Amino acid sequence: MTQSATAAAHPNLALVKYWGYSEPSLNLPANSSISITLSGATTITSVTFDSTLDDDLFTLNDSPGTAVASRRVSAHLDRARQLAGSVDRAHVSSTTDFPTAVGMASSAAAFAALSLAATRALRLDLSPRELSILARKGSGSACRSVFGGYVEWSKGSHDSNSFARPLYPPQHWDLRVVTVAFGGRPKPVSSEEGHRAAVRSPLYTARLRELDGTLDIVREALHRRDFAGLGIAVEREALSLHAIAMTSPLVEYPWVSGIIYMEPETIRLIRAVQDWRAQGAPVYFTLDAGPAVHLLCEPAYLHTLLEEIRALFGLQSHQVWISSPGRGAWEVEGPLST
Ligand code: DP6
Repeated sequence: MTQSATAAAHPNLALVKYWGYSEPSLNLPANSSISITLSGATTITSVTFDSTLDDDLFTLNDSPGTAVASRRVSAHLDRARQLAGSVDRAHVSSTTDFPTAVGMASSAAAFAALSLAATRALRLDLSPRELSILARKGSGSACRSVFGGYVEWSKGSHDSNSFARPLYPPQHWDLRVVTVAFGGRPKPVSSEEGHRAAVRSPLYTARLRELDGTLDIVREALHRRDFAGLGIAVEREALSLHAIAMTSPLVEYPWVSGIIYMEPETIRLIRAVQDWRAQGAPVYFTLDAGPAVHLLCEPAYLHTLLEEIRALFGLQSHQVWISSPGRGAWEVEGPLST
């Protein structure tokens, strides 16, 4: 017997970042976070549970998934199977329209779509909150991609009270996010290792002390659509994450003094943003745990911003993705078409 469903999800960009665990085995975060769901990229995942399969099978963009990714997908299917009391193995087929290394938190879209497709295939009718809790266990930031627009993940203190909820729908504020990705070396340290190492930074407790204030400022700026207030808070917040990463000793790699996610182009672009702003340009940056830079602007400035980026990097290899606030994870009718 087979049972199938297909679901889609967008990645999200954190304005206030999740960095560090309170409980790693459940992806419980040390702090709450706020994000925008990004319309500019989509992952579509089909899950077919099949009682004749001996093992789970995972394909990404029509190629077999890596061993690490396949194990992560299987572990997540186990969570859904446990909820449904099922033992059937599944075929999981995912497609993304953005390179996974682009710096768009591909795992957030992946685990939001997988959670929805797997639970629908198993005929589980989870509430959005239950779905967010399930997605969180696959990848922390995935709990936010369950929802659209502007989203807050309350850190909670145990499995059942750490989930995301929508703050404002996409149409509340029509911002643009321009993601500029640079080719180059793969990420030196995974987010998981970064989260684990964060608590060892001497600056970590100072970051956590500051975060409640940052969350208030960002919530208030979103409420009032105060672009300058939002932008400065978001830039400081991203730099705070990088300050933690740079001062986090990695016990697994004693020869690495701290994690440097930025590449030379990253610095070049964020300094340019500060210069453009000194001339009055309404644009702000944020960074995740990687070299990509995400630029925030209002729609009226988008064209000029794209020109500025082109002028700065010329024909050098970089990729640009444009997003607006997008919708939360959704079920797609019929089988996956590629
Ligand atoms: C810097 O643990 O959610 O993007 O390792 O891809 O599962 P994966 O990511 P996750 O960490 C995300 C960290 C962040 C900040 C954020 O999205 O809040």
